[in-house]
Amino acid sequence: MDQRTGPAPAQAKPPLANGKAEEKKTFTRNRSVGYVVSCDGTQARIVAVSGSHNESEDYWAVGQQISIQVEQNRVVGLLHKVLADEEEWKEGQPNPITLCVELSGEVRSNDRGQMYFSSGISKYPHMGAIAHRIRKADLTTIYKSSDPTAVTVGSLSQSRDIPAVVSVDALLSRHFSVVGTTGTGKSTAVTLLLHLITERRPKQRILILDPHNEYTSAFGAKANTVTAETLDLPFWLLNLEEVVQVIFRGREEIAEEVDALREFIPKAKLLYRDGKSKGIRRQTTGQNGVTADTPIPYRLADLLGLFEEEIGSLDGALRRLTLRRLKARIEATVNDPRFSFMFGSHNAQDRMSDVLGNIYRMPIQGKPITVFQMSGIPSEVVNSVASVLCRLAFDLALASDSRVKTLVVCEEAHRYIPADVSSGFAPTRAAIARIAKEGRKYGVALAVITQRPNELDPTILSQCNTIFAMRLGNDSDQDVMTKAISNGSRSSLAFLSSLADRECIAFGRAVSTPMRMIFRTLAVAARPSSQNVHEDDYSDGAESVNVNDVVKSMRGGDRNDDDLTVEGTDWVVKVDDSKFDTSAIPETPPETKRALASLRK
Ligand SMILES: Nc1ncnc2c1ncn2[C@@H]1O[C@H](COP(=O)(O)OP(=O)(O)OP(=O)(O)O)[C@@H](O)[C@H]1O
Ligand SMILES: [Mg+2]
Repeated sequence: MDQRTGPAPAQAKPPLANGKAEEKKTFTRNRSVGYVVSCDGTQARIVAVSGSHNESEDYWAVGQQISIQVEQNRVVGLLHKVLADEEEWKEGQPNPITLCVELSGEVRSNDRGQMYFSSGISKYPHMGAIAHRIRKADLTTIYKSSDPTAVTVGSLSQSRDIPAVVSVDALLSRHFSVVGTTGTGKSTAVTLLLHLITERRPKQRILILDPHNEYTSAFGAKANTVTAETLDLPFWLLNLEEVVQVIFRGREEIAEEVDALREFIPKAKLLYRDGKSKGIRRQTTGQNGVTADTPIPYRLADLLGLFEEEIGSLDGALRRLTLRRLKARIEATVNDPRFSFMFGSHNAQDRMSDVLGNIYRMPIQGKPITVFQMSGIPSEVVNSVASVLCRLAFDLALASDSRVKTLVVCEEAHRYIPADVSSGFAPTRAAIARIAKEGRKYGVALAVITQRPNELDPTILSQCNTIFAMRLGNDSDQDVMTKAISNGSRSSLAFLSSLADRECIAFGRAVSTPMRMIFRTLAVAARPSSQNVHEDDYSDGAESVNVNDVVKSMRGGDRNDDDLTVEGTDWVVKVDDSKFDTSAIPETPPETKRALASLRK
């Protein structure tokens, strides 16, 4: 007997009679009802009849959530495949179809009769259980959040009047990732999330590694921008590996020279420390736990002087040659104006508090976000700088007993944490991996954004407990996502290649169950935009440019050492002080307002 027409369980319509007129009537009545004919732990198959595709509500289609009545509960699932049972299609008539559903949870009611969603299933559907296209009330129940830190980031694709909410706490405590093909709206989505995070958590510091210089314009007065010109990062904050990367400029390093640095940098540090305290330079005895990685200042003049002393007292020609080459290498780097942000004369002083205070916003002073514009920084040094910034974000949280909590946002993350472990810069990878693995314990969070998930280090992606997956056309990228998310949500991935711009499937901790949603529209003033090439600039460039200006810019501009000795807040780019337009930011949902109010009481 065909379950599409009965016999049905108690609440179902009566079985189909044999008469033709009655058959038509029953089919009409059953168009929004299906019957479970098979079920395992995660999947169910349902038989039904096709509805009219003229009326928007009256048909079964992939991507819909459906519910199955099981006693008082309704088991919820995602419809991921629909098949017509027969090869022939009868136009305008009911056609038998089979629905494949991935079960995701259950809507139950509590003691007070309130409905709530649980991602566990207490009672699985029995054969013949009735399935419906889900009711709006159930959809709302599934996606609403009782978390006081929940924010509305968009609306459900299935029902645009139901808000899509995510928990800020879960985003920050377990890292998140936004992936999608170029142009799908990743950076804009991240900007929206960051605006909402700063509203909910005003003391949350955010450091954006911005390879396209596009985020400054989005945050107005909330952001503090660090550019190639305003970057202020003393060389002595670098650890040995980072120093080596800077001095060798991406070329293969020479082991003897690295050994010499490892030996002499701690000595230079002790000279600075002791010389400063006693007013004279004197040779120290032990190294007192100071290594080349300890963040205490030293003078390059001392380091080079130590090389000279050693060269003068040596017989070995090889060692002399090594030290001379290393000295020349350091001098060449120091004299390169593109590196003056690191080696300027004022950088020999111990200004660690100023430097960290500025970059990591201590105090916040209304600017919780630091945008690090990477595109103007010499490529040889960008790796080292990114590495220092990520490393310090972690160390600061550790040293401040988690009072300085930073969210590190890695745009184009596949560039500095690539899947191929032999490429990329090892210290940057190590610094980001440390945040991914241990950041949660100290309040350091990671946001990873990439258009090529298959080129991203999978161990980092696997630590991101919330993923916003936007359109991904490439098979290998989709495979990576399949591995990154839990078994129960995999059917949703079938839709990845057909998502619209600004649409995504959100998985993981910050959402109650996988959610196909559309991000809210951000006001133009609050969107990221590249300052180099504007999106709608399709012109073919300028007829004439001042070559001298271009050459000057390539040589590092007009800086002279006097500029470098000026201390203060000049390195902070003056940003537009006009207030960020919040008109496009969603109102705080009433349930969140109530929850917040009750917390304050
Ligand atoms: N939520 C949104 N509100 C308003 N406009 C949006 C939104 N999402 C995307 N857009 C528009 O779509 C375009 C592309 O968005 P965006 O730059 O964020 O894409 P992307 O995925 O980061 O691209 P790429 O990979 O090239 O960096 C932009 O012009 C942006 O203004
Ligand atoms: Mg982008």
